[in-house]
Amino acid sequence: MEIPSKSPLLLVSLLLFSFMFLPLSLHAICNPNDKEVLLQIQEAAGNPPDMVSAWNLANDCCSSWAINCNSDGRVTYFFAFRSNRNFELPSRIGNLEFLQSFTFVGLHGLIGTIPPSIKRLKYLEQLAIYECSLNGTIPNFLGQMKSLKRIDLNSNQLSGSIPHSLGHLPNLTELDLSVNKLTGHIAKSFGLLKNLEKLVLSFNQLSGSIPKSLRNLNLSYIDLSRNNLRGDASFLLGPGKTSLGIFYLRSNKFSFNFSNIEIPSSLGGFDVSFNKIYGSLPPSITKPFYEDGFNVSYNRLCGPIPNGLQYLDDAASAFIGNKCLCGSPLPPC
Ligand SMILES: *[C@@H]1O[C@H](CO)[C@@H](O)[C@H](O)[C@H]1NC(C)=O
Ligand SMILES: *[C@@H]1O[C@H](CO)[C@@H](O)[C@H](O)[C@H]1NC(C)=O
Ligand SMILES: *[C@@H]1O[C@H](CO)[C@@H](O)[C@H](O)[C@H]1NC(C)=O
Ligand SMILES: *[C@@H]1O[C@H](CO)[C@@H](O)[C@H](O)[C@H]1NC(C)=O
Ligand SMILES: *[C@@H]1O[C@H](CO)[C@@H](O)[C@H](O)[C@H]1NC(C)=O
Repeated sequence: MEIPSKSPLLLVSLLLFSFMFLPLSLHAICNPNDKEVLLQIQEAAGNPPDMVSAWNLANDCCSSWAINCNSDGRVTYFFAFRSNRNFELPSRIGNLEFLQSFTFVGLHGLIGTIPPSIKRLKYLEQLAIYECSLNGTIPNFLGQMKSLKRIDLNSNQLSGSIPHSLGHLPNLTELDLSVNKLTGHIAKSFGLLKNLEKLVLSFNQLSGSIPKSLRNLNLSYIDLSRNNLRGDASFLLGPGKTSLGIFYLRSNKFSFNFSNIEIPSSLGGFDVSFNKIYGSLPPSITKPFYEDGFNVSYNRLCGPIPNGLQYLDDAASAFIGNKCLCGSPLPPC
């Protein structure tokens, strides 16, 4: 539009006019089909007050804090939390085809399985449905959703084994399947997850040994506690593991010789209690501080405790229940 330069009054009113509408033009108007899917989920969930106010579907959903849209008004992010009424995810969820981030937390009434229509979400980077009540298996098709970076399905009722296909997600950085009822083995294909930083499979019923292919990963966070895993896990440690911060293997059946293992100096949390680890404590285990805990209790370790670990709070309890560990904070050798 051409603004007549000789009419300052008109210019001022034009400016005022556009400022009045500026807040609306900052975000797109919600696509009606996307809004329909959101409404369907909200109604299925029994219109829980938290969801109703967070999604603000009565107005324009794109203006709510729990939903983001792209410039065409297509939903790219949605977040829901806290509801108790039982409901299942409608299959139309696959119509939110521009979704990048799907985050549902603490919807204890969210039952049923992960719907197959999810595989149509071809831009999905984050699938986070945790502290809900999903059951059934983790679908194989997740392994075909190559855009996924983060999968967090912790604290549901998922059963069956973890699909091998997940090992073929090139950009996966975080996998958290803890606190479910998963069985079977950890797939060899997980060694292909070159970008994986965080692997959390604790509180399941996984069995077998950790595939040697995981030796190649550069993980910063490993929690495999409370499963039925056995065999060697020492190859997850070693001098090359310069990013490793958390190493939790508590309550499994791991069995390996600890004597010559090099503990990365980056480690802030180390808990391998309640396993069948033997040999002696390696000198590299001494560190000024383990801010996220240290515990080697209830294994089959032997020999003197290296100097420099006695600072631990309640230190003796971190070493008890072994075959013949000795020296401070335990009784002398
Ligand atoms: C999942 O839960 C529903 C009801 O909550 C039940 O009918 C169904 O059998 C369960 N499926 C599995 C595989 O446990
Ligand atoms: C993986 O991430 C890279 C870098 O962010 C990106 O360019 C690529 O498109 C992603 N791959 C897929 C399949 O999304
Ligand atoms: C591992 O990741 C860290 C950062 O997280 C990086 O500094 C380091 O170079 C990586 N090492 C390898 C072998 O990729
Ligand atoms: C563990 O390894 C050390 C060093 O290689 C060796 O001396 C020791 O005998 C081994 N312990 C057991 C119980 O095999
Ligand atoms: C180590 O684990 C044992 C067994 O659960 C527990 O009793 C003890 O308090 C723990 N000690 C430390 C220092 O975490």
